[in-house]
Amino acid sequence: MTPRAAVCLAAIVALASCDDMRDQPKDKPYAQAAVGPGPVPGGVAEFGRAPAPPPPVTLALLQRGQQRFHIDCTPCHGELGDGDGMVVQRGFPRPPSYHTDRLRNAPIQHFYDVITDGYGAMYSFAARVQPADRWAIAAYIRALQRSQDATVADLTDAERRSLP
Ligand code: HEC
Repeated sequence: MTPRAAVCLAAIVALASCDDMRDQPKDKPYAQAAVGPGPVPGGVAEFGRAPAPPPPVTLALLQRGQQRFHIDCTPCHGELGDGDGMVVQRGFPRPPSYHTDRLRNAPIQHFYDVITDGYGAMYSFAARVQPADRWAIAAYIRALQRSQDATVADLTDAERRSLP
């Protein structure tokens, strides 16, 4: 046998020994996954439930909220929060628009709580969105609501003069 043939034979034997991936021992990570709102997995329970006071509203907080909102919420709620996200266009139940009197008048805590606990068909984000980010998202939702509900009377004189 030439050295090259010996190497080939060794390779074939080695490959043959890693035969069937189905027989490998493996974990079943989704075996007990709950469908819909459920308890937060053990390790992150504290992270999920620890109460956190609302931070002062700053531009940085709103920018953080905007970024997290785009990641976690726009798929269903849409960029404007009108409930027209891509997942909804593909058949998921449609969330209410944020631009209703009920949600405009809801206390900021309500948005924090919905993110923590879920709401009806919407599952909890407690394991995915940190408490500080829940406040950031809630503040950004307020800004979104304002963006669709401002009147000319809310503008300064200079801003009013710059209107077309
Ligand atoms: C997979 C789709 C989906 C995602 C992602 C999602 N939601 Fe929802 N959301 C819903 C649905 C559906 C409802 C309406 C639930 C119902 O009334 O049964 C809802 C309702 C709400 C409500 C209204 C509650 C009320 O009082 O009527 C708020 C506020 C809200 N979501 C905030 C958020 C925020 C903030 C995020 C991102 C962290 C988010 N949602 C991510 C689907 C989603």
